[in-house]
Amino acid sequence: MKIIVTGGAGFIGSHIAEYLVQRGDDVTVLDNLNTGKRDNLAKISDKINFVHGDIRDYKLLEKLVNDTDGVFHEAALASVQQSFNMEDEYFDVNVNGTENILKLGKEYGFKIVYASSSSVYGNPKKIPIKESDDREPINPYAKTKLKDEYLAKKYSEMGVSIIGLRYFNVFGLRQSKEYAGVIKLFLEKIKHQMPLKINGDGLQTRDFVHIDDVVQANILAMKSDIKREFFNVGTGNSISILDLAKIIINASGSSLEPIHGPELSGDVRATEADITLIRKLLNWEPKMRLDNWLTKIISNKDFQNI
Ligand SMILES: NC(=O)c1ccc[n+]([C@@H]2O[C@H](COP(=O)([O-])OP(=O)(O)OC[C@H]3O[C@@H](n4cnc5c(N)ncnc54)[C@H](O)[C@@H]3O)[C@@H](O)[C@H]2O)c1
Repeated sequence: MKIIVTGGAGFIGSHIAEYLVQRGDDVTVLDNLNTGKRDNLAKISDKINFVHGDIRDYKLLEKLVNDTDGVFHEAALASVQQSFNMEDEYFDVNVNGTENILKLGKEYGFKIVYASSSSVYGNPKKIPIKESDDREPINPYAKTKLKDEYLAKKYSEMGVSIIGLRYFNVFGLRQSKEYAGVIKLFLEKIKHQMPLKINGDGLQTRDFVHIDDVVQANILAMKSDIKREFFNVGTGNSISILDLAKIIINASGSSLEPIHGPELSGDVRATEADITLIRKLLNWEPKMRLDNWLTKIISNKDFQNI
């Protein structure tokens, strides 16, 4: 298959691209290297077509999508904190850039599987969160992701096949600093035998889902006959940031107590996915447990690659 991965030099996109190359697909990665890195594609650099470009460049996109079978659209500006100071830029990349992909999907007839976010829900009224629950985003980044969902709905009603995956907190090798970045930050502190810093009381909870499981959700979504849907991609389990800190401290044998800083603005209090729909319609099941992964990483002392 001929596939394009936008944002393919980033955390999630590079793992999708690696999987596709292993499977034998013809892969084009489009990335402007804003947060993405060529290093993330080191294993497959001679097996892909890498295009250094911007999803806002419609003419460039048009040249690439000509005979494509599908697009995994991962490119975005993805920092909640940064989005407060760069609202226009976030809108331009995340909304206008995404609309370019959707428009081309309509013109050229390829399927789109794209990265939405659990942040569209804002602070949920109940846990676990179902796809049909209210979407009330509480920061500018999440608002762009909700606008994308409105656009995805609009274009799917015009006949484009679009699946939006609402990722919860994705973790794994090469993870970016945002979202599950707390894991990366904690492991870096522990590596240097420094205390872990928690924003706020640490009782905020997160549903952490492993990158390999996220790649599989993307692959199954692209393969399925389903033409329009939004799916939660989480595990159905959540953990508080305080408990996460304790697991890491215990696994590393450290005796340092965590320290607390101020709460972050725009930080939701609780997330946990209801994954009934994706289990049922895509036959997807998360396999990697956070505690097992952490213990393995810490016992290997393999912190360099995180
Ligand atoms: N990591 C998570 O836990 C998580 C959770 C929810 C949603 N998401 C979404 O998943 C997607 C991938 O996130 P990630 O964690 O891999 O982040 P990332 O920052 O590692 O990847 C985003 C990629 O997009 C590229 N990019 C940014 N602006 C671009 C532009 N204008 N043109 C072309 N490329 C551009 C960046 O250079 C980067 O490589 C994003 O859409 C993000 O909003 C991620």
